[in-house]
Amino acid sequence: MVIDAQSLAGKRILLGVTGSISAYKSALLVRLFVKAGAEVRVIMTEAASHFIPALTLSTLSHNEVLSSFERAEGGLWNNHVELGLWADLMVIAPATAQTLASAANGLCPNLLLATYLSARCPVVWCPAMDLDMYAHPATVQNLERLQSFGNHVIEAESGELASGLSGQGRLAEPEHILDWVRHFFNVASSKAPTVGLNQDLVGKTVMITAGPTHEAIDPVRFIGNHSTGKMGIAMADAATHLGARVILVLGPTHLRPQSEKVSVILVQSAQDMLAACQQYAHEAHVCIFAAAVADYRVATVAEQKIKKQSGEDFAITLVQNPDIAKTIGNTKRSDQVMIGFALETENLLAYAQGKLRAKNMDMIVLNDAKQQGAGFGADTNIVTFVTENGSTELPLLPKSEVANAILDFASRLLNTKLATQLETHTLPQLLVL
Ligand code: PMT
Repeated sequence: MVIDAQSLAGKRILLGVTGSISAYKSALLVRLFVKAGAEVRVIMTEAASHFIPALTLSTLSHNEVLSSFERAEGGLWNNHVELGLWADLMVIAPATAQTLASAANGLCPNLLLATYLSARCPVVWCPAMDLDMYAHPATVQNLERLQSFGNHVIEAESGELASGLSGQGRLAEPEHILDWVRHFFNVASSKAPTVGLNQDLVGKTVMITAGPTHEAIDPVRFIGNHSTGKMGIAMADAATHLGARVILVLGPTHLRPQSEKVSVILVQSAQDMLAACQQYAHEAHVCIFAAAVADYRVATVAEQKIKKQSGEDFAITLVQNPDIAKTIGNTKRSDQVMIGFALETENLLAYAQGKLRAKNMDMIVLNDAKQQGAGFGADTNIVTFVTENGSTELPLLPKSEVANAILDFASRLLNTKLATQLETHTLPQLLVL
């Protein structure tokens, strides 16, 4: 990863480290912050010191690491109020379920939590725990509660966990946390917001499918289509500019996103694409299905190259592929936004409306395969946004601008959904309290 040494120059970051096996990653995080020009101070809980020595973090941060209210010598105390006022941003990484629960309930049994309670700066939580703990309603509600206080959350990532299980719960990679922080400060210091766009995808995950699929006939032939992936790739790049963590599930194309921040999952067939989407969809806040997926695949793929039989016609039996958008759409939660595309040549609006409902999408981006400057291969597109509330036609635009318009719609709808969820989940709780 290339780090711009000036990108966090002058920023003061207070890093809170709690007792998780992933606390070792805090060393890399401190190094990345310092390399990017930030001044870093570290507070750790006693439990964290079992996983990473304070000496490592003090050496890397060039500052003493604090962990208790009292100093060992001199009868002095560590002033949590001063620490909270000093910082431009407080990052808690890793944040255990215990610390999240304490913070969500205003408990302050240690210096880290007392500092959190007195901090006036923005706070971002980076949870790390086992997958079942992470998915537990108590943890989910604690994170929602912290967000309702105006705190930010960088979601845990998926992969192998210390327990040996696999799933969502891993501390976000230090590079991803650094990206988030850099973006956060850029947005915060930006005096001129981008016209027509908001920055609400910071800390959110966006999954996008793009490109064609190739359905093998034999080792040398396949059934494919003319998709280049440009439309989906444009959205992946645009989503990173809006601060999102982006997972691009990309069919066979030589094109790649410009942004190194996009995680690209390369796939060949519709079945591969579905498997990748099923792996990541549950952690995505926004799913966009721009791929031109083959509706059919060959029933039996020949193991050897099929040889020409002179004078004879040749027929292939095709079987239906899974509908990826529909499969994932059927699992859509109330805190997710899903957007599909429709590429049509006739009955455009009617077919798009049918797909909106059949695939349980929030919006269909309709494009006409026969229109000049639209659809496959072009650097431009002409699209109509189709929702339950009606349709809106956009003019001929570069695919990058179509991408921005789609993401703008997605982030606004996501905010509405999250706000509604917060009202329904947290208000009754607060009333009971
Ligand atoms: O890649 P480019 O060259 O830039 O071209 C862009 C594009 C034309 C591919 C893009 O703008 C587009 O229209 N993508 C969707 C193409 C398509 O397959 O449309 P559809 O109407 O057949 O499918 C409807 C929706 O269901 C799409 O979101 C599609 O991704 C999804 N689908 C379809 C079939 C299937 N088996 N699984 C799916 O997920």
